[in-house]
Amino acid sequence: METVILKTDCMNIDDSVIDRACKVLLAGGLVAFPTETVYGLGGNALEESASSKIYTAKGRPSDNPLIVHIADIEALYDLASDVPCDALKLARAFWPGPLTMILKKKPCVPDTITGGLNSVAIRMPNHPVALRLIKESGIYIAAPSANTSGRPSPTTAAHVAKDLNGKIDMIIDGGEGNIGIESTIVDLTEDIPTILRPGYITLEDIKKCLGDVTIDKAILPDGKTSDEPNVAPKAPGMKYRHYAPLGQVIIVKGVPDKVKSEINKRAESLISQGKKVAVMALHDNIKDYKCSIVRDLGREDALLASHNLYAYLREFDDLGVEYIFSESFPDENVGQAFMNRLRKAAGQNIINV
Ligand code: TXA
Ligand code: MG
Repeated sequence: METVILKTDCMNIDDSVIDRACKVLLAGGLVAFPTETVYGLGGNALEESASSKIYTAKGRPSDNPLIVHIADIEALYDLASDVPCDALKLARAFWPGPLTMILKKKPCVPDTITGGLNSVAIRMPNHPVALRLIKESGIYIAAPSANTSGRPSPTTAAHVAKDLNGKIDMIIDGGEGNIGIESTIVDLTEDIPTILRPGYITLEDIKKCLGDVTIDKAILPDGKTSDEPNVAPKAPGMKYRHYAPLGQVIIVKGVPDKVKSEINKRAESLISQGKKVAVMALHDNIKDYKCSIVRDLGREDALLASHNLYAYLREFDDLGVEYIFSESFPDENVGQAFMNRLRKAAGQNIINV
């Protein structure tokens, strides 16, 4: 299959690009499009054959459900059998935006996109191209991140093309997403709202809006509570070791000076064995690393780090990097989301110094 790649300016959207994409979607085809988080691989959410094409193109396990993208709050009533007060509060506070809600599903939502669960994930993205596409096609768009399953999520159209060229009908190139990591997922099917995947909208943000909120224990740093060893994450996708580059990611945590000397010591030894090594470091620490490939994680907050993480991991793959050492952020605010993705990329490979 030939994949058509068309560019559009997000501030001045090219109508012909949207028209063409709508035709593809309405004919049951797949279109990758930009969102404010990462690129999504879209297909008609209520059409089983379109969703099965998504799973095939990504090589995604069929038990991993998809997020349905909508463009107005009313759509909640078409897709969810129960729309609790909390859902409306969150929608008013954060939509359009990087927040996905899990609600009980209506029968019109096919089991193929929910992985057989009786709930459905719904999000209204805050991106002009995504919103135009949903509105003008007149359908709800199921869209996982537009990467091959297991690879880092794509933040540019070039990343999408690298993974999916020849496997999907079309890619809309709308430039770089500004957040860079996937939406926060909150499950509203339980008595207490539960965060299943941390993101740009933080636990604190949701607490301010709803009051009582908890986080899925299985995604916390040590992956368990004191009395419940290794519980499975509630979002099926969170159990896979995805976001992973080809090289091995090693997180080094602790007192800054010790972190630097540990990374330098290990990097030097690997380089002397002929290995290709990269480092991801906070802005002010970059100068202290001797390695030739060092990338900037920014300063105190994890915003810049989140924005760049997947692009760095993909770049390291392109450069043939075999070992990637990373500094870390505290597990709070956006740092919680960044560290969640970084730990997954590292397969929990963490050195405490
Ligand atoms: O920012 C995002 O959310 C991006 C853009 C494209 O919108 N999409 C995205 O989709 O990250 P995906 O498929 O890569 O991640 C969806 C996650 C998976 O971990 C999946 O298991 C979980 O959402 N999920 C979907 N439906 C669910 C449900 N009914 N219950 C629990 N988890 C669900
Ligand atoms: Mg994904």
